Amino acid sequence: MISPADRLAKAFEDEFHQKPLIVRSPGRVNIIGEHTDYNEGFVLPAAIDKAAYVAVSLREDDEIHLRALDLQESFSVSIRDLRPVGDVSWPNYMLGAAAQFIKRGVKLPGFNAVLTSDVPMGAGLSSSAAVECATVFALNELLKSNVDRLTMVQMAQKAEHEFAGVMCGIMDQFASMMGKKDHVIKLDCRSLAFEYVPFRLEGVKVLLLNTNVKHSLASSEYNTRRKECERAVEWVRAHVAGVNSLRDVTEDMLDRYVLPQDKTVDMRSRFVVQEITRLQSGCEDLRRNDLSALGKKMFATHDGLSTMYGVSCRELDWLVDRVRDNPSVIGARMMGGGFGGCTINLVKEEGLEDLIASIKPAYEREMKLPLTHYVASIENGTEVVRL
Ligand code: GLA
Repeated sequence: MISPADRLAKAFEDEFHQKPLIVRSPGRVNIIGEHTDYNEGFVLPAAIDKAAYVAVSLREDDEIHLRALDLQESFSVSIRDLRPVGDVSWPNYMLGAAAQFIKRGVKLPGFNAVLTSDVPMGAGLSSSAAVECATVFALNELLKSNVDRLTMVQMAQKAEHEFAGVMCGIMDQFASMMGKKDHVIKLDCRSLAFEYVPFRLEGVKVLLLNTNVKHSLASSEYNTRRKECERAVEWVRAHVAGVNSLRDVTEDMLDRYVLPQDKTVDMRSRFVVQEITRLQSGCEDLRRNDLSALGKKMFATHDGLSTMYGVSCRELDWLVDRVRDNPSVIGARMMGGGFGGCTINLVKEEGLEDLIASIKPAYEREMKLPLTHYVASIENGTEVVRL
């Protein structure tokens, strides 16, 4: 089978008659630690074997020519008119990435770029972060601007804020850029200190079940949750010095200063405070290789996301409830921003096929939607695949 890089190189050369630089940047999973990144907590993501690939070459003029191979769509704009565009998503990720170089004072010439990706869109696997990271990385190489990886992560995150309008945390871009084969990343989203924790699961697979829904609420509710968390921080800060984020907040503080003011804000922020603690002990489980303890915490995370944080949906809840008592399933939960996308399931290998065979028709009957699945392996982050 022809590799994505070969396919991309051929399409690029046919269209632009040049040899491009090709960069691969993966999607991600997150084992535990959801909606904690923008609250300065911890996350535990990893890059996976599904990725976006961009082929890029610089131009002599100031035009940007973009093509999305899978969608068979093209988009062109002059550097002078670089701004978010309505009604389309993928050009914004690439344009937003390019704009970050200008903001840093780098002289950006025009460029040609062709994109392909096998990260399913809207599945909560960070397909947009993968495109942003790939584009930033490729332009950094071609422009020889010597930006370090961590700064590139932040540039990719800014691309999402400024051109896609989602005020995401740093997890997705960090995981895509910094992933390491067979390791998860324990990232402290406050200091950005991180460590790689080995993730070698003997006889256990990471199964992603894609609901194939992305409710339109996703990005507006995401931004609302962020504001709710900020409100809780303000209320606590009015009484307790040195509180800058929910990372600094305890449940006792919520009892005193948030619950009396607003039940919803209390529930949202309480979930985050609990999740930050849950992740830390989940990491200890992983180090002790106690997957069953980690799995229980994954279910607890799901329940919190669903009942307290309010970012699940019927399809996600159904998938998690359905595997709860399956002896082959060690842990399961919805993953990512919510309102659709995938559940992540840690499944004993011997029960994998039976699980898929039984859950797929049941889901499709119940939801009148297809259920797709991926068995993810943990791979390296952003890299050049062809010079
Ligand atoms: C989305 C965002 C991330 C993170 C997750 C929830 O994937 O892009 O920054 O907030 O949701 O954990």
